[in-house]
Amino acid sequence: MKKSILFAGCGVALVGALAITYYGVNTPPSPELALSNQAIEIFNEGGCISCHSESPTLPFYSSFPVIGELVKKDAKDGVKHFNISNELNNLANGIEVNKVALAKIEKSTIDGTMPLPKYYLVHWGSQTTPKKKEIILNWVKEQRLANYSNGLSAAEFANEPIQPIAPPKDLNMEKVALGEMLFHDTRLSANNTVSCATCHDLATGGVDNLRFSEGINGQFGGVNAPTVFNSHFNFVQFWDGRAADLQAQAAGPPMNSIEMGNKSWDEVIVKLNDDNKFTEQFNKVYPGSYTGESITDAIAEFERTLITPDSRFDLYLKGDKTALSESEIHGYELFKQQDCATCHTGSNMGGYSYDLMGLYGDYFSNRGDEITTEDHGRFKETKAEYDLHRFKVPTLRNIALTWPYLHDGTAESLEEAVDVMSIYQNNKTLTEVELASIVGYLNTLTGKYNGKELTNTNIQKL
Ligand code: HEC
Ligand code: HEC
Ligand code: HEC
Repeated sequence: MKKSILFAGCGVALVGALAITYYGVNTPPSPELALSNQAIEIFNEGGCISCHSESPTLPFYSSFPVIGELVKKDAKDGVKHFNISNELNNLANGIEVNKVALAKIEKSTIDGTMPLPKYYLVHWGSQTTPKKKEIILNWVKEQRLANYSNGLSAAEFANEPIQPIAPPKDLNMEKVALGEMLFHDTRLSANNTVSCATCHDLATGGVDNLRFSEGINGQFGGVNAPTVFNSHFNFVQFWDGRAADLQAQAAGPPMNSIEMGNKSWDEVIVKLNDDNKFTEQFNKVYPGSYTGESITDAIAEFERTLITPDSRFDLYLKGDKTALSESEIHGYELFKQQDCATCHTGSNMGGYSYDLMGLYGDYFSNRGDEITTEDHGRFKETKAEYDLHRFKVPTLRNIALTWPYLHDGTAESLEEAVDVMSIYQNNKTLTEVELASIVGYLNTLTGKYNGKELTNTNIQKL
């Protein structure tokens, strides 16, 4: 009897001592350090790099059978979701951390999911305690306000992952006028039938509402056309990011055999030179006259005007409480809760990162159709295994107008696209009510172009 009490007493003392040690080693960084250095310390202690980089230094026991396999699987799975190595380098060098990474770190911190329990139970000191959580969230806020705020949000929304769209500024209006004409000019195609606007009609949301676009001589491409509205905000252009900016992008279609079918700019320039009036206007702005360079420069300048601020959601973020209904506000909360804002983030709600299509489950084999090179995404350009099926995250601005959805154009309705996203990017099947709520919110993202609400004349034909 006495002995067992003694044993029990020892047991309790041992557990108590372990608990004290456990929490003792989980101390937060010194508040005397700069916030960013406190964050670095937490990320280092949390072992983030060991599961979120492409070539982590694995612990010695990763060579053990069974447990080693588990460690390797976590590391492989972790980096598939999120690669933190660049961000930690930037952080250490005082360079701003990508806003998508901030949104992801913030969400996993709020949810308390990182590091995984199986990690912090073995690596004492790595757990994100409430104090460390507070530090990370303050650091995210500091980064956001310093690097990504455009000053348009009401004070209470200044630290939201999504910010209102800023109208364009510092435009060269002469170039814009030339670019607008060129954007609508079919002489940019070999047989004068196709202009940029053929596939990116500004009256239909900057898209053609087709699964695949029809180019010259009735030929079809193999990937859905994204909208040109707000494309200025994208960190790179195209689904696979093969153009660095709008000017580089604009050089693509004219020489694409399916889209506009020219062999060289000379073909286009000969035709434009026949147009005395336009040539005179053009040469006033570009003394070197027509070149691939000057033509695409003008088009890119025009595209910088294709910005759509002041959607109802933006008015709400700017402080107009009546701009959204209760249920639309609820839809926004759900959108964030379901991780959507971790990729569709920033003022463009996308366009700032490459992310994997099919984080949970194999979208491509479940889809059924044969996998095409377009499905390879970023891999097309880099041939790096890591980039397979990674796409530049598309914008959700004006999303109600730009059906069908996804790079393969397979989602005909917004409901379908959101359902697919939730299953493959968040591992969850939404209820009908949740789905309707998120779609209701997405419908508030239609902005104003030249002061008028953007519309799509194809809606009447639906
Ligand atoms: C033992 C490995 C491991 C460690 C350590 C770890 N993670 Fe993770 N992390 C994972 C795995 C696995 C996933 C995918 C979780 C899932 O399937 O839902 C993940 C997911 C994430 C995501 C979600 C990305 C997304 O898809 O939106 C973020 C952000 C993240 N981790 C950040 C961190 C941070 C910050 C740390 C350090 C404090 C950390 N992780 C430590 C394994 C790890
Ligand atoms: C035949 C239809 C067609 C024509 C003509 C066309 N585009 Fe596109 N556009 C597309 C398709 C399809 C894509 C996506 C291709 C890809 O990502 O590989 C695209 C992509 C873009 C993008 C990238 C948007 C983003 O979010 O990545 C911009 C910007 C753009 N086009 C502008 C233009 C301009 C400017 C012209 C005229 C010089 C033009 N397009 C002509 C179909 C067309
Ligand atoms: C891990 C990053 C990530 C998360 C989380 C995510 N998305 Fe996406 N989203 C993407 C990518 C990448 C695509 C493009 C996929 C493709 O075309 O195959 C996309 C495409 C879309 C599209 C289609 C856009 C278009 O123009 O074709 C919609 C709508 C969308 N997402 C909504 C959502 C919603 C709603 C959620 C939350 C349930 C969500 N996304 C969560 C990365 C993400």
